[in-house]
Amino acid sequence: MSKTVLLATEKPFSAAARDEVVAIIKQAGYTAKVLESYKGKGPLLEAIADADAAIIRSDIVDQEVLDAAKNLKLVVRAGAGYDNIDCAAAKAKGVAAMNTPGQNANAVAELVFGMMVYLARGKFNGKTGGELRGKTLGLHAFGAVSRAVATIAKGFGMTVFAYDPFVKPEAIKEAGAEPVGSVEELYKRSQYVSLHIPATAETKNSIGKKLLSLLPKGGVLINTARKEVINEAELLEVFAERADIKYLSDIAPSDATAAVIKEKFDARVYVTPQKMGAQTEEANVNAGLAAARQIVGFFERGEKNFIVNP
Ligand code: 3PG
Repeated sequence: MSKTVLLATEKPFSAAARDEVVAIIKQAGYTAKVLESYKGKGPLLEAIADADAAIIRSDIVDQEVLDAAKNLKLVVRAGAGYDNIDCAAAKAKGVAAMNTPGQNANAVAELVFGMMVYLARGKFNGKTGGELRGKTLGLHAFGAVSRAVATIAKGFGMTVFAYDPFVKPEAIKEAGAEPVGSVEELYKRSQYVSLHIPATAETKNSIGKKLLSLLPKGGVLINTARKEVINEAELLEVFAERADIKYLSDIAPSDATAAVIKEKFDARVYVTPQKMGAQTEEANVNAGLAAARQIVGFFERGEKNFIVNP
């Protein structure tokens, strides 16, 4: 029987990327269903009911969604972080979960620099600002996005450090960054620290006072990773204690934290109005098409690359 593949994107891909995803699904002889810009969980529960596979972005796939999906065998997160999928619940139901690592890395990396330049130039306020050249940049974790950031940072003339206990120092060196021995050393030596850690039980709330206090004078924390990794109460504490620390984020903090920032620290913070890291035409095409191809490979050739809940 023909398979049904659902593309469920609360934050839609570009029209061109969506159409190419649909074309790949149809070429495989499958039925393509598209659910875009939906509000609330209801439409997803309905749309996923008869799907054999689903492509999602930050859309939440929890127990309720999995229970509603009667035929689901595979869910592919078109992107890197899969903390929005309940991987254990999926595994228990025999549903494989995959991501598409690296496909939107350049888009996120470019945004890191867009935000850094914006802040260094006083949010384009016309006054004398600073440059990135000659500054130190610390990469907290060294996956695909960090590698892209390291490459671009070289062009800016920055000195790049990286800390990742799961990546061999030689591999970090090969990718153009200087490995440091501890996370504390990374924060001590870096005028800019860019977060590239996933949101896991270990990393949630892990970026707080202990690390932020180590930043050198004028230190800037950049978050294009996840909101959950920040200890927001401690971030505010550090802001209150040190008038020199700044924060750039592609993920809005909680409403309560955002209100304090707006009232007290607005000049030292920039948060994108909506999560923008992967919102480029190129990243939409890269991640969307990779996801569609992985689904076809899984069903037609039994390909299991990129499964994250083995
Ligand atoms: C990722 O994990 O790939 C990024 O956070 C992108 O998320 P998005 O697809 O929701 O923009």
